[in-house]
Amino acid sequence: MAQATFHFPRGFLWGTATSSHQVEGNNTNNTWWAWEQEPGRIKEDHKSGLACDWWGGRWREDFDRAADAGQNTHRLSIEWSRLQPTPDRWDEAALDYYREMIRGLHERNLLPMVTLHHFSDPLWLMEKGGWENEAVADYFAVYVRKVVEALKEYVNLWVTINEPNVYAATGYVLGEFAPGKKDLGSAMRVMTNQVRAHAAAYKLIHSLQSTARVGVAHNYRPMQSAKVWSPLDRLTTYLQSGVFNEFFPRALHTGKLRFLTLRVNLPEARGTQDFLGINYYTREFVAFSPFKPGELFGRRYYRSDAELSSTGFIANEPRGLFEAVKWGLQFGLPIMITENGVEDAGDSLRRRYLIQHLHQLWKAVNFNFPVKGYYHWTLVDNFEWERGWTQRFGLWELDVDTQARRKRPSADLYAEICQTNGISSEMVARFAPELFANMFPNY
Ligand code: FCB
Repeated sequence: MAQATFHFPRGFLWGTATSSHQVEGNNTNNTWWAWEQEPGRIKEDHKSGLACDWWGGRWREDFDRAADAGQNTHRLSIEWSRLQPTPDRWDEAALDYYREMIRGLHERNLLPMVTLHHFSDPLWLMEKGGWENEAVADYFAVYVRKVVEALKEYVNLWVTINEPNVYAATGYVLGEFAPGKKDLGSAMRVMTNQVRAHAAAYKLIHSLQSTARVGVAHNYRPMQSAKVWSPLDRLTTYLQSGVFNEFFPRALHTGKLRFLTLRVNLPEARGTQDFLGINYYTREFVAFSPFKPGELFGRRYYRSDAELSSTGFIANEPRGLFEAVKWGLQFGLPIMITENGVEDAGDSLRRRYLIQHLHQLWKAVNFNFPVKGYYHWTLVDNFEWERGWTQRFGLWELDVDTQARRKRPSADLYAEICQTNGISSEMVARFAPELFANMFPNY
């Protein structure tokens, strides 16, 4: 039997990613909590409730899990609505608690990466028009200053905004996140303001901390035209990918915001990333559909023979991760995979998904593509937005009623990868033998 190991570079960052609303619990003062109270908004009317009870202190045991499993970094987010419950008030105790949590990461040798905005907004911000209101960039800057001043002693890896494209698309085009709009014009306004807010935050963070490394976590989803010979399929693919994949990172690269008739120049946004964060989950086809005017006449779907996750949310397309990294090279920045994972309560697909995706990442690294780290989504099952608890992304399973955690086999697999900084043929034979022949052919 062939034997080999795919090694990663020394110092490679291995971690998991989480976000405040999804893990903390009792986040009662934000847009998501309010959204959860509206019947029909969340699958099976699930509520985030206690989530993973991190605000109640269970971050300690979960950080222990991450550290014991050989991880050396963790990405988490700060909940804006906790720190600034009203525009004129700071909750210093909440800030202290974050400080304690982040010190807790260091104590376990987990390098913190901190996200400043991950989908949830203070209720007061939404009352002021949320991200559609240009003033959001100023509000965001006030909050960012407060956080960075308080945490810069412990953190220098910052993600300003998580998935601006997903936030805009789901909240303002698909109507699945608050405020539930279906209006491309609003979505473009939101993205434009996200660029403004990011650029201001980037400058501000650097002015407060000379060692800061600042980026965004961009959701990149390769899209392929359903029929290459169809001009309509190609046009809609070009538009969908243009707005979803290209618009935001290009704006941060060039300072130019371009889509259809939108032509805005924000020179201050140019070159405002120190690394490119990529969240990669899957890739898809796009076909022209006259029934989808609100979605630029595009119908998106997965390859018919693709292996799907439990609820059909994700197709297992590991090569898309390689494509994503290759696409990211154009920006000339170090690359971090800030999220990647799959929902799989039974853990029947995750081991395969993990090995296949990391194999592609290893390939990218061996082309000398500057990939510096990988954050698996996620550590422990957490509240999956409008999909509630119906999707389980954790390396550890969570019993939402009792808060008990149970390790899934993938947690052991990922631990071995993190601990040895590589994937060995022996691991593949044990955790996903079905992949062996392809990954380690006999010659
Ligand atoms: C990403 C989000 C993250 C999580 C995963 C599954 O789009 O950033 O919070 O929900 O999807």
